[in-house]
Amino acid sequence: MKTILFIVGARPNFVKISALTRAVASYKNRVRCVLIHTGQHYSDEMSKVFFNEFHMPEPVANLEVGSGDRIVQTHLIMERLEEHLKTIKPDLVVVVGDVNSSIAATLAAIRFGIPVAHVEAGLRSRNWQMPEEINRVMMDHLSSLLFTTESSAASNLRSEGLDMTRVHFTGNVMIDTMNQFEEMAEKSDVLERLGLKPYNYVLSTLHRPENVDNPERFMELFGALCEVQSFIPVVVPLHPRTQEATRRIGVEWNERFSPRAIPPQSYLDFFKLQRYARFIMTDSGGIQEESSVIGVPCLTLRTETERPVTVEYGTCEVVGVHREKIVDAAKRAMRGEWKRRKAVIPMWDGCAANRTIQIMVETLESGRLIPPNALAHYATTPLERETVAPKVDIMQILEREKTF
Ligand code: UD1
Repeated sequence: MKTILFIVGARPNFVKISALTRAVASYKNRVRCVLIHTGQHYSDEMSKVFFNEFHMPEPVANLEVGSGDRIVQTHLIMERLEEHLKTIKPDLVVVVGDVNSSIAATLAAIRFGIPVAHVEAGLRSRNWQMPEEINRVMMDHLSSLLFTTESSAASNLRSEGLDMTRVHFTGNVMIDTMNQFEEMAEKSDVLERLGLKPYNYVLSTLHRPENVDNPERFMELFGALCEVQSFIPVVVPLHPRTQEATRRIGVEWNERFSPRAIPPQSYLDFFKLQRYARFIMTDSGGIQEESSVIGVPCLTLRTETERPVTVEYGTCEVVGVHREKIVDAAKRAMRGEWKRRKAVIPMWDGCAANRTIQIMVETLESGRLIPPNALAHYATTPLERETVAPKVDIMQILEREKTF
């Protein structure tokens, strides 16, 4: 029997892995599954609450790497994962999304010659200042199986010269989790607890380093939220990074004219807050996807998105990071001059995890999984790469990573 090792580390991972572990349960006679938590997110409110709500399987190990410098975090995960890779001897390591835990586990696995499957592959913001963009590119180039959520991903991978037989368009596993927990979320009493009236508040989240770690940018966004607060209540579940930035910069939430900050929310409470918001203002990629599916207007507080499908089919608009533009867009959303349809996005049908797991298991059983040391032979020919792909030099990326 083959063994699949799933890696989780940070909050958005739990939502995705939960769908995959539910789907793999129907293959328990064919594959053995093991889960490891890196401990990148460790607080109860950033980790434990999700395991409880999703009834996720217990991880066999928690690497307890915690927070810290990105290079150190990656190094610790690689080092601590090593002994588990030796004892578990997985046939496939599954990583999701673009967080540090996922790239670290990818690097550790390929060092041992273990093939990697990347779920949510191929997304590109083309913004090299984002640690996530560097993680995505490296993970895709090192993975034997790539599962994509939207059609832009395959174009990105093709243009980087990747062998397309590794790529499978199976859809968005986060939406599987949404479908699964929709009814339970409806029962949450979070609106009553917070004294919020349906469709009479705005939900906002900010956590990207480029938005919150830069005081000037942060104050611009905070100013925009304060202005929106002058015409509709704004509630902001504060990510720990944002809490830290707030302390550093000396921003006062919960004052007369400022938005209301609340602690990070559980999955079910946050789902309910999203669903009944008049509109959402966020820099999170996952929330962009979720708001599109539930049909709530979403102002993306960034200058680009790696998820163009949420703009093309969904309720998102990339409104940038300037106060005036953000407030203008919020006024439009307030007046109802916004897309509010529930997006029907190809392959976001609640069955993405089943399709993904089926391909993983069948590929494993067929013996056709490309081992990491053979990946280079499966890239497109140098001539094709020369003509179609912008050059992606992994060594150059690693070098830049050090200088951030
Ligand atoms: C990480 C991901 C990001 C994802 C986000 C979701 C990377 C590069 N980034 O960013 O893509 O959208 O998770 O939350 O992996 N902290 C706590 N408790 C915790 C975890 C973190 O207090 O459980 C604090 C720490 O002080 C830490 C800060 O939050 O310094 C940031 O955490 P970190 O893991 O570095 O990255 P995120 O900003 O959460």
